[in-house]
Amino acid sequence: MQEQTSKALSGFEGKTNEVIPMLQAVQNEIGYLPEEAIRDIADIIGIPESKVYGTATFYSQFYFSPRGERTIKVCLGTACHVRGGMQVMEALEREMGINAGETTQDFKFSLERVNCVGSCALAPVVMVDDDVFGRLVPKQAKEVLEKSDPEV
Ligand code: FES
Repeated sequence: MQEQTSKALSGFEGKTNEVIPMLQAVQNEIGYLPEEAIRDIADIIGIPESKVYGTATFYSQFYFSPRGERTIKVCLGTACHVRGGMQVMEALEREMGINAGETTQDFKFSLERVNCVGSCALAPVVMVDDDVFGRLVPKQAKEVLEKSDPEV
């Protein structure tokens, strides 16, 4: 992992305005931001780790633990919420044995809640990476998972 971090950070000069691009580079390379990477970025730029961590936690695009191969995003925007998005989320949580914001133990899936993905006519909507599942009912949770299994 240290090798991947070094590779991701190799093109940077260590300027203070490079914190976000450096975080993005590490996450693109590894899939998340391990503690060592936060430390390395702080060392390269010459600022406290807490500052790098503070910047990373400000943006929802950054993750601090390994992610699943596929990301399931359950829309809980207004249109999806009123048409049962929360019940679909709960069904997925039950089926996957995790809560929103977590990753399955086999690292196949991460589950997230999002606001409006721009497909309100299909509410309630779930996106698995770029695949859109619309007009869902809770009992389809298992079907969504089966169709999205990265090993199938
Ligand atoms: S509110 Fe869910 S797609 Fe718009």
